[in-house]
Amino acid sequence: MSTDKVKHLLEERERALQGGGAKRIEEQHKKGKLTARERIEILLDDGSFEEIGMFVQHHSTDFGLENQKYLGDGVVTGRGTIDGRQVLVFSQDFTVFGGSLSEAHAEKICRIMDLSLKIGVPVIGLNDSGGARIQEGVVSLGGYADIFLRNTLASGVVPQISAILGPCAGGAVYSPAITDFVFMVKNTSFMFVTGPNVVKTVTHEDVTFEELGGAITHATKSGVAHFACENEVECLGAIRKLLGYIPLNNLDDPPRVVSTDDPLRMDKTLDTIVPENPNKPYDMKEVIRKIVDNGEFFEVQELFAQNLLVGFARLGGYSVGIVANQPSVLAGVLDIDASLKGARFVRFCDAFNIPIVVLEDVPGFLPGTDQEWRGIIKNGAKLLYAFCEATVPRLTVITRKAYGGAYDVMNSKHIGGDVNLAWPSAEIAVMGPKGAVEIIFRKEIELASDREQATEQKVTEYREKFANPYIAAERGFIDEVIVPSETRPKLIKALRFLENKVDSNPKKKHGNIPL
Ligand code: HXC
Repeated sequence: MSTDKVKHLLEERERALQGGGAKRIEEQHKKGKLTARERIEILLDDGSFEEIGMFVQHHSTDFGLENQKYLGDGVVTGRGTIDGRQVLVFSQDFTVFGGSLSEAHAEKICRIMDLSLKIGVPVIGLNDSGGARIQEGVVSLGGYADIFLRNTLASGVVPQISAILGPCAGGAVYSPAITDFVFMVKNTSFMFVTGPNVVKTVTHEDVTFEELGGAITHATKSGVAHFACENEVECLGAIRKLLGYIPLNNLDDPPRVVSTDDPLRMDKTLDTIVPENPNKPYDMKEVIRKIVDNGEFFEVQELFAQNLLVGFARLGGYSVGIVANQPSVLAGVLDIDASLKGARFVRFCDAFNIPIVVLEDVPGFLPGTDQEWRGIIKNGAKLLYAFCEATVPRLTVITRKAYGGAYDVMNSKHIGGDVNLAWPSAEIAVMGPKGAVEIIFRKEIELASDREQATEQKVTEYREKFANPYIAAERGFIDEVIVPSETRPKLIKALRFLENKVDSNPKKKHGNIPL
């Protein structure tokens, strides 16, 4: 082969690496953003990236586009590894037409998604795009639709992860929304259906980009983002970490590591962590950290619906999904947001063979007109539904309150919990003592000379009778009442026991979760 041909190839490669050119790369850096290729470098293992479609170009001839062609057409696609495990990645290049999505750009992303399904590896999308390539019109809209369809069909087959690293507007938000996890970066990434200018025209609201669709907004208010990172490097590192807990596809097992933390370790401080006074809060995150390997809890949606904690951890090296009521926020009550957060997480774990561990201290569902009118019934039912249909190993530990419908919902034995444990501090009842007494002894209390004292006496009686785990244990609803410090070894032994669990639901096209 002539050296000229090789030289030409190397020059073309170099041209592709320049994206939209040095000036635009500089502008990108000035905004505090990395380029598409720099992001891939940080995300993947060193030297593992193999590019696919480096020389793809758009086919448009309108608005002078025939004279503006960039190799790769605004998206870098390819394969590589994270901790030695295969992944596919696309990274939109804002320096080329603002990362906007043309037909060719969409085809590149679709190719990655098709490969991911055939090979069974996760897709990571690094989004930084002005949306549909305006000059290409409907062809570009079609490109988005092609991606949405693939996102949906791949859902539950391969993990899909989206990082939003720039603007993400219009239909472009719907692809990330269908994926399993959305990462955002504070101050540089935005997601909205329509931007602040259109909002001003339509609703007359004055709102900034950040307020309308920034990382904190979506991590705290809407729940659209699962992670709000300080900067891009932290974000890409967090994606790597997440990958460490999840399998490559729905037929694969989550990665198991050799744990350096003794599986038989017992933390005696757990024995006194639940306060004597049932109305006093404690921090369930502390409980989680004392139980899991090396105290590491990778929390998901940390800033949203903080009355319910969800996230990944390891127990004896097994990857597990943790769902836990947080008594220090709203007493750990289940409301609409917490139900949605929990349901989506449970479904992810179930789709990807990740055992679920529930830590329960829940006074019930949140009452009130706001919740009722916004549909706590159908939203709470989503969490119930998600647990009911889960076939992965399911463990529950009731640490304190397990009241009412929330007792049933939070992975009770009745809806498929495999190993259900309770601490001696557990209170398993239809409702809290005061509420119960006011209903069942209403007449008696009304007739009493000292109503307060009569109520108090009945509350004590009720508490003695029901506010313990032994009636449920007597019925077999609880497998074992355990000393709190035994929790870690008990859970690890249960995970080992359940390692080969096989369970399935009736065959159907799909269920009809109350959306
Ligand atoms: C073509 C685009 C583009 C687009 C940006 N550019 N968006 N080119 N199609 N959608 C180009 C700009 O012309 C510019 O080119 C370069 O990208 C950088 O853009 P700037 O505006 O200079 O950057 P910045 O100030 O950072 O603003 C970024 C932005 C803004 C907020 C994204 O560009 C913007 O509002 N773009 C339009 C967003 C939009 O309305 N998209 C369509 C959404 S509707 P030069 O050559 O100067 O570097 C949609 C429908 C999908 O996406 C529906 C699916 C169902």
